[in-house]
Amino acid sequence: MDPNKNISLVGFMGTGKTSVGKSLGRKLSRRVVDIDDLIEKEQKKKISEIFAERGEAYFRVLEKEKIHEICKQKKLIITTGGGAVLDSENAQTLASNGWVIALSASPETIYQRVRHAFHRPLLKVADPLSEIIKLLAQRKPFYQKSDFLIETDGKTPAQIADKIVVILEKL
Ligand code: S3P
Repeated sequence: MDPNKNISLVGFMGTGKTSVGKSLGRKLSRRVVDIDDLIEKEQKKKISEIFAERGEAYFRVLEKEKIHEICKQKKLIITTGGGAVLDSENAQTLASNGWVIALSASPETIYQRVRHAFHRPLLKVADPLSEIIKLLAQRKPFYQKSDFLIETDGKTPAQIADKIVVILEKL
């Protein structure tokens, strides 16, 4: 594993990017940066407030700026929001100096993981499961462009992080 390269985790909401990122950071002794976290800290607002006050398009501009800025650094674990790699420039930026690993899960698993978390603006709809199924179908092709795809159903963040370590150690 090239120690200088970044490791980016992408994938749909509720696939475990943030918790797997933290676990991976501990296992590999690497700094973990979460793009949504950095945006919230810089804007001093929650993502849901940014969506409500300025709209999704404005959030996407902030997201792109942050990804560009962070990808200038090395040796990081970068966790992204679920929509980040729908933008081809973001996907290229993340891939430019690192590996991109997509986490996946079934719509039912995603629903179970997110149903008690109310901070995701895109899932604040009457029927979140149907929305998950619809968005997942639209987004799957983008996640599939990643270097590696890891299914997370029934696995803990630590198990998934272990799997990623095994994959990266073979490189
Ligand atoms: C989004 C996912 C969210 C956050 C924003 C938009 C998306 O991040 O970036 O609400 O488009 O899927 P998580 O994937 O961490 O929930």
